[in-house]
Amino acid sequence: MAEWQKSDWRGKPRVQMPDYPDQGALNSVEQRLSSYPPLVFAGEARRLKSHLAKVSRGEAFLLQGGDCAESFAEFSADQIRDTFKVMLQMAMVLTFAAKVPVVKVGRMAGQFAKPRSAGTETIGGVELPSYRGDIINGFDFTADARVPDPARMLQAYTQAAATLNLLRAFSTGGFADVHRVHAWTLGFTGAPEAEKYRAMSEKIADALDFMTAAGVTSEANHELSQVEYYTSHEALLLEYEEALTRVDSTSGKWLAGSGHMIWIGDRTRQPDGAHVEYCRGVLNPIGLKCGPSMTSGHLKTLIEKLNPKNEAGRLTLIARFGAGQVGDHLPRLIRAVQEEGANVVWSCDPMHGNTIKSSSGYKTRPFDSVMREVREFFDVHSAEGTIPGGVHFEMTGKDVTECTGGVRAVTDEDLSDRYHTACDPRLNASQSLELAFLVAEELSKRRTMLARAEAV
Ligand code: PEP
Ligand code: CO
Repeated sequence: MAEWQKSDWRGKPRVQMPDYPDQGALNSVEQRLSSYPPLVFAGEARRLKSHLAKVSRGEAFLLQGGDCAESFAEFSADQIRDTFKVMLQMAMVLTFAAKVPVVKVGRMAGQFAKPRSAGTETIGGVELPSYRGDIINGFDFTADARVPDPARMLQAYTQAAATLNLLRAFSTGGFADVHRVHAWTLGFTGAPEAEKYRAMSEKIADALDFMTAAGVTSEANHELSQVEYYTSHEALLLEYEEALTRVDSTSGKWLAGSGHMIWIGDRTRQPDGAHVEYCRGVLNPIGLKCGPSMTSGHLKTLIEKLNPKNEAGRLTLIARFGAGQVGDHLPRLIRAVQEEGANVVWSCDPMHGNTIKSSSGYKTRPFDSVMREVREFFDVHSAEGTIPGGVHFEMTGKDVTECTGGVRAVTDEDLSDRYHTACDPRLNASQSLELAFLVAEELSKRRTMLARAEAV
């Protein structure tokens, strides 16, 4: 077979990508982006892959989360800080319960392009092309805003670079110290309605106090004051991805320089399509969304294409079926993986199968459905004897009202208060942390179950 080239996807059928009206403008943007520095380097992508290999063996747990769509309007230091902060809190709770390291991957610094269920949107009798994310066109409902504009790729690149820069600073500059992170969590569990999570949070405090008393301090151990944080996004806009693709000088392999991990969406995973063709050629860890229409046959073909060498950590299968449906679909896909003898990470996205229209007209996700899907995911893995490796959430550190439920209950009527998402509804800071406590309970149950099985 001829060697892979970063532009090979252009010869394959493409879906969910814009038709740019001005080819000259598109080409000049592609040229400029190709001359810019990549956002990540190959050593980092390889390191993430080695962490994910541990996840695939049950020696670590994956936490992936962030916006459905990053937006140009919501770009600020506070926005980045708050999401990073709540992810660290979630990771600490999960680490405590799972007793293994948590691999932290943000849907950040590049999560701009969106697949849509319909090509057009109609409001008040006016039909316009759908909004496809700030990297492609504008959110405003005007004909002008909805024209795909390649210059938006340059703005997305700049925003991604600035976001990543701040994330790197937060990760190593003292902001991520375990003691600080836990102090924030105590703020949440101190509230009367979060009482049920207090016991675990107090146990974490005890563990930290014990470590300090034993001389394991942040000053002496840099691991306690720093974190590794990775970025990811859906590789949907392939002109952008191709322009940021680079050769890794140490291995001679291709790297998607746009982020550490990229994934293929549930609508763009055609085995012979453009998106699979692009992703198969780069060395980064790859995610693959698996919705109800994924057949065992398709999954086997995709595994063969995306991970022909069966490298552990290369492929993360992100299951997103909807509460009540996991048992109908996940077992057959787990068996397909077993029949192939494939090394994969199984992660659960309990967001995209649980989107409903609320009585007040807003697109929302009930917290209980989200949690129910996570529990079903854990239950199926227990029954099959396989490893529930991680979770994938749409969330923000801000106090938005987009998903309903949680201990500080958001109701259908509350949704209009602070509904800010540019695309799908996100869990707010308190709902995200609550979910982490609930996932932590599942992880603790699993550890007890495994320990019992070993003792027999
Ligand atoms: C997403 O992750 O925002 C998304 C569109 O997911 P999916 O491809 O699973 O629908
Ligand atoms: Co989404």
